[in-house]
Amino acid sequence: MIRTLVYTALSGTVLFSATAAANSYKTGAEIQQYIDTLTEMGFPAPEEDQLVHIPPTMEDLEEADIHPKLKQTIRRGYDLFTNTQQLRGENVFNNMNCSSCHLGEGRMPFSAPIWPAAVTLPDFRGKNGHVNSLEERIAGCFAYSMNGEPPAYGSDDMLALSAYHQWLASGVEMYPKQDIYGRGFPAPDRPEQLSYSNGEKLYQQKCAVCHSEDGSGLRVDNQTVYPALWGDMSNNWGAGMVRIFTAAGFIKNNMPLGQPNSLSDQEAWDIAYYMDNQERPQDPRYTGDVEETAEMFNNFHQHSMYGKDSAGDGGLLGDHENTGDKPFLKPFNVGVPRNFEGNTD
Ligand code: HEC
Ligand code: HEC
Repeated sequence: MIRTLVYTALSGTVLFSATAAANSYKTGAEIQQYIDTLTEMGFPAPEEDQLVHIPPTMEDLEEADIHPKLKQTIRRGYDLFTNTQQLRGENVFNNMNCSSCHLGEGRMPFSAPIWPAAVTLPDFRGKNGHVNSLEERIAGCFAYSMNGEPPAYGSDDMLALSAYHQWLASGVEMYPKQDIYGRGFPAPDRPEQLSYSNGEKLYQQKCAVCHSEDGSGLRVDNQTVYPALWGDMSNNWGAGMVRIFTAAGFIKNNMPLGQPNSLSDQEAWDIAYYMDNQERPQDPRYTGDVEETAEMFNNFHQHSMYGKDSAGDGGLLGDHENTGDKPFLKPFNVGVPRNFEGNTD
């Protein structure tokens, strides 16, 4: 039973090397079939020595030989991940579920599958400049992508979410040396010119049917059917998705829903650019001055339109104190500075 393999391509012949397969659950043939399905969807095949992992499903969980209490915890984590709206008003202040961006319940390659975080953290994270735990990584998505306030570290909800992430990573070794196949939202090459008007036209043609003409999506009976791409009910200006390359990667790989890789690279970038030229809730790191904030977090915002003049008619983007539904601006401690220097003896 092999689930995780290092993929080795030799002079055109595709081989599997089982060196990283000590705890795995899928056969080489099953992995090959998985890759075939993805390549038929237009995704690239794994490169030599990439780590390919098929995360277990909730059906696999029912069959797993683990303590029933742990199963309950993982089920709760899954439930929170796919229906995060149940934390609305407490931890979540927009229309997102975690699964709005992490498709396939957090398992889909090229849609930022979440299990890599469970095997690569703790690690240094440039965004907040210190070593992050898995809980802190999850907290980051609450603070920015959910325009919210994370559940407390060590709380039942945090434990359940972490357990779900770790369960999906079942069988993968910690700190794998190989690059992970399908991690993140890999972006297509950036074209020379980005066109706002072409982005707008394509958006109205291909996206507005679900996400609505004004980007606000669709909500029925307090449940999100189509998430908001911008505006008060979307992620805030500090979320990874506001980087144009990240949005371009997400869109190219996943949208329109059910038609991955159907847009050209130029189209995906133009739509991402159009999307990023619209307003959304304030970045929780806001200092009170948008240009100062953009400058302070330039590593991040050099890739977004925050603090720049809108290519549409939106004026200076991010120049406001609107926090959407969230009744506060800045609860989230972007990170406790951690420093272990001097603690080595
Ligand atoms: C608005 C879209 C969006 C939503 C909603 C969202 N995320 Fe994310 N998430 C991202 C982006 C963007 C990244 C960074 C991907 C990259 O590295 O390119 C990310 C990364 C992650 C990672 C790290 C994955 C890795 O490869 O290490 C984890 C874990 C994660 N998110 C968990 C969550 C959880 C839990 C929630 C719900 C509380 C959530 N996300 C909600 C967009 C989102
Ligand atoms: C058939 C309906 C449909 C169409 C058409 C569609 N989407 Fe989506 N989109 C969704 C759904 C549903 C989700 C959330 C995924 C989930 O819940 O499974 C989503 C999620 C997203 C997200 C991440 C969440 C967020 O709110 O930011 C972005 C970005 C996005 N879509 C952009 C687009 C773009 C751009 C297009 C056009 C190229 C498009 N979508 C076309 C249904 C659609």
